[in-house]
Amino acid sequence: MSRVLTALKPTNILHIGNYFGAIEPFLQQQKTGDTNFLFIADYHSITIPQDPDELRKNIFFATAAYLAAGVNPEKTTLFQQSHISEHTELAWILNCVASMGEVERMTQYKDKARNKGESVSVGLFDYPVLMAADILLYDTEIVPVGEDQKQHVELARDLAERFNNRFGQTFVIPKPVIRESGARIMGLDDPEKKMSKSAPTDKNYISLMDDEATVLKKIKSAITDSEGTIVYREHRKGIANMMTIYSLLTGESMIEIEKTFEGKGYGDFKIALAAKVSEFLTPLQEKIQTLLQDENHLHRTLEIGAQKARAIAAKKMIEVRKKIGIA
Ligand code: TYM
Repeated sequence: MSRVLTALKPTNILHIGNYFGAIEPFLQQQKTGDTNFLFIADYHSITIPQDPDELRKNIFFATAAYLAAGVNPEKTTLFQQSHISEHTELAWILNCVASMGEVERMTQYKDKARNKGESVSVGLFDYPVLMAADILLYDTEIVPVGEDQKQHVELARDLAERFNNRFGQTFVIPKPVIRESGARIMGLDDPEKKMSKSAPTDKNYISLMDDEATVLKKIKSAITDSEGTIVYREHRKGIANMMTIYSLLTGESMIEIEKTFEGKGYGDFKIALAAKVSEFLTPLQEKIQTLLQDENHLHRTLEIGAQKARAIAAKKMIEVRKKIGIA
């Protein structure tokens, strides 16, 4: 039994990369773990400008999407990050433990800040320290995330070790859990880069809310190569990515997929993949729509989650304040 925690930023577009990279691995852990935390990282989302009404909607959408996907509030403490002020309090303390140099090395910050010059927010820079606070507050052991968040979890480990060395044993050292296949779903229009909702075009990703026609259109226009065969080779990035998605949806191995599509071309494969994606998305979308109709229920779910999370976070902060000498 171990303590598992993960989080996703609330956006209007959760894509299948988020699902396979973080939500599904979390659901796997939920099956066996007794203490699971999943939260909506709203403070992380405001590191870039947000429309307040959209953000409010996205928080409820995310809550509905997690519940529809199988998050069970009996087994998982599901909450909204900003409801627990201890996250930002601990982030401040960890800011005073972290060095500028190590935070500057975070590649996601470098990517996001590129070409933005001095207009980039301090919050965007500090984002990984808040994430460390999120994780350490709950004595988390396991953090299921996609490949792009690995460096951030490693920073949380470093900060926990440094804090423990300086002030005495306080934090559990967390471990990122990154699945072998699916931890980095690539963009359909550019398989050199990860699937991302902030890509220049929506052809890059499949949103959990895309309808059948949209899914088919996006997959049909996905980049492949000139070889034309359904054979898994890492360097054939476009087809390899789509075969990975097919495999994640069906549980079939690459060899089985190759056999099924022997003698067939990209056209047939793409139609089959689009059908599998929609078979998966349609029932999920129906559940999300039903849950979204009862905003009170979603609100209550987050409130109950916050009560449970607060009890743990408050206790940890009493210990932290004592350790550093402010209480
Ligand atoms: P976020 O909201 O950017 O992404 C949520 C999760 O989805 C994964 N992911 C992907 N996985 C596979 N392929 C992709 N193309 C892909 N794109 C995204 C991400 O790796 C992530 O697991 N900082 C985090 C949220 C966070 C958090 C935390 C996570 C805040 N506090 C504490 C874990 C623990 C973020 O912005 O993820």
